[in-house]
Amino acid sequence: MADLSVTVNGMKFKNPFVIGSGPPGTNYKTIAKSFDCGWGGVIAKTVSLDSTEVINVAPRYGKLRLNEYEAKGNKNVIGFQNIELISDLSLQEWLDDFKRVKDDYPEGILIASIMEQHEKDRWQELTGLIMETGVDGFELNFSCPHGHPERQMGAAMGQNPDIVEEVTRWVADTTDLPIWAKMTPNIGNIRLPARAAMAGGASGVAAINTILSVVGVDLDSLKPQPTVQGGSTPGGYSYRAVKPIALRMVSELCLDQPDMPVSGIGGVAEARDAIEFLLMGASTVQVCTGAMLQGHKMVQNLIEGLDKFLDEKGFASVNDIIGKSLPYFTTHHELVERQVAAKLAKAGQKNRDKEWGENMAEVTDKLTTN
Ligand SMILES: Cc1cc2nc3c(=O)[nH]c(=O)nc-3n(C[C@H](O)[C@H](O)[C@H](O)COP(=O)(O)O)c2cc1C
Repeated sequence: MADLSVTVNGMKFKNPFVIGSGPPGTNYKTIAKSFDCGWGGVIAKTVSLDSTEVINVAPRYGKLRLNEYEAKGNKNVIGFQNIELISDLSLQEWLDDFKRVKDDYPEGILIASIMEQHEKDRWQELTGLIMETGVDGFELNFSCPHGHPERQMGAAMGQNPDIVEEVTRWVADTTDLPIWAKMTPNIGNIRLPARAAMAGGASGVAAINTILSVVGVDLDSLKPQPTVQGGSTPGGYSYRAVKPIALRMVSELCLDQPDMPVSGIGGVAEARDAIEFLLMGASTVQVCTGAMLQGHKMVQNLIEGLDKFLDEKGFASVNDIIGKSLPYFTTHHELVERQVAAKLAKAGQKNRDKEWGENMAEVTDKLTTN
C-alpha cells in the first residue's frame, strides 16, 4: 500500500481526505463519525461569536439531476444548491465540542472555520477562544455566497483583497496555528485574494466555496427554487457540476504561488475526482456535498481508489502526484504553434531524404498521392 499521509503546515493528515465545512462536520457527533470512518481531517462548520443571528430556513437545499424525469434519489444528482447559513450552535457549545473531539481523537486533524463581521476585536476574540481548545488550525470563511454577504461578511470580504489581507493579519497576529483562507469562486481573478491572504500571514488557502446559483424554477408555480414561504434567494452551488471550475481555479492558484499549500474543494464524488485535485496541486482534498449525499463512509472508496491508482502507476506516496499535471498547462497560442510544428513534421518538410534506403518502393509510395 502506498503512503497516503500528507503533512501540510505541520499538520499530519493520515490521508489527504478532509471533510469540508458544512453539515458533515456540524457538531461533535458528525466530527466523531468522520474520524471513525477514516477521514484524515475535518473542517468544522463555520462558527462566529454570536449564533443568535443565525436563523436558517427550510427547505434550504435544491438538487439538479442529470435527468429530472428519472427516479428521485441521489444517484443522478449532478449539482446541489444550499442557502444554509453558518452554524446555529452557540460558541460555548463549539468550544466544548472542539475540546471533546481533540480529547477523543488526538490524531485527527481538526480545523475550526470562523467568520465574523469586519471588526478586529471580534475576529481576535473568536480566534483566541477557539485556540485554547486544542484545534489544529483555522480556516477563515471569506467565501459564503448567500445570506452573510448582505451583512458584509463571507464572500463580501473575500471579493475584496484589501479586506482579506487585513482580516487574515488580525487572525495571524492572534495565533501561531496554521491559517487557511477559504476563497470564493464568485470573483474574476481568484489569484488576487489568495495573494492578499498570504501577504496577511495565511499559511495556505482552501478553494473553492460554492458558486452563486439559481438551481431551477418550478414550472407549475413559476417560483425559483428552493422556495420558502413563496419566495427564494440565490444560493451556493456544489457537487459534481462544479468540479471543472474548481479544478481550474486550484490550478491557477498553484501555478501562481507554487509554494502555497492549497486545499482543493468542489465536486468530489469519487476517488478519481480527488486524484484530479491532487494532480492540479492540491495537497489535501475537501468533500462536503459528497459526504451529505453518500454518507461519511464514502471516504473508504476514496482511500481505496487513491491507493489503487498510486499502486498501478507506481507512485510510492501521495506526495509524488501533487501538482504532477500542472506542467502540461500552457497558453492557447503555444498550443497553436505546437500544432503547426507537428503538421510540418508530419508533412515531411524536414530530413525526408534520410528515409531513402533499402526499401525504395515504400518511400516512393509515401510520397505518392494515388
Ligand atoms: C449545505 C452546505 C453547507 C455549507 N456550509 C459551509 C460553511 O458553513 N462554511 C464554509 O466555509 N463552507 C460551507 N459550505 C461549502 C463547502 O464547504 C464547499 O466549499 C462547497 O460545498 C464545495 O464542495 P462540495 O462540492 O464538496 O460540496 C457548505 C456547503 C453546503 C452544501
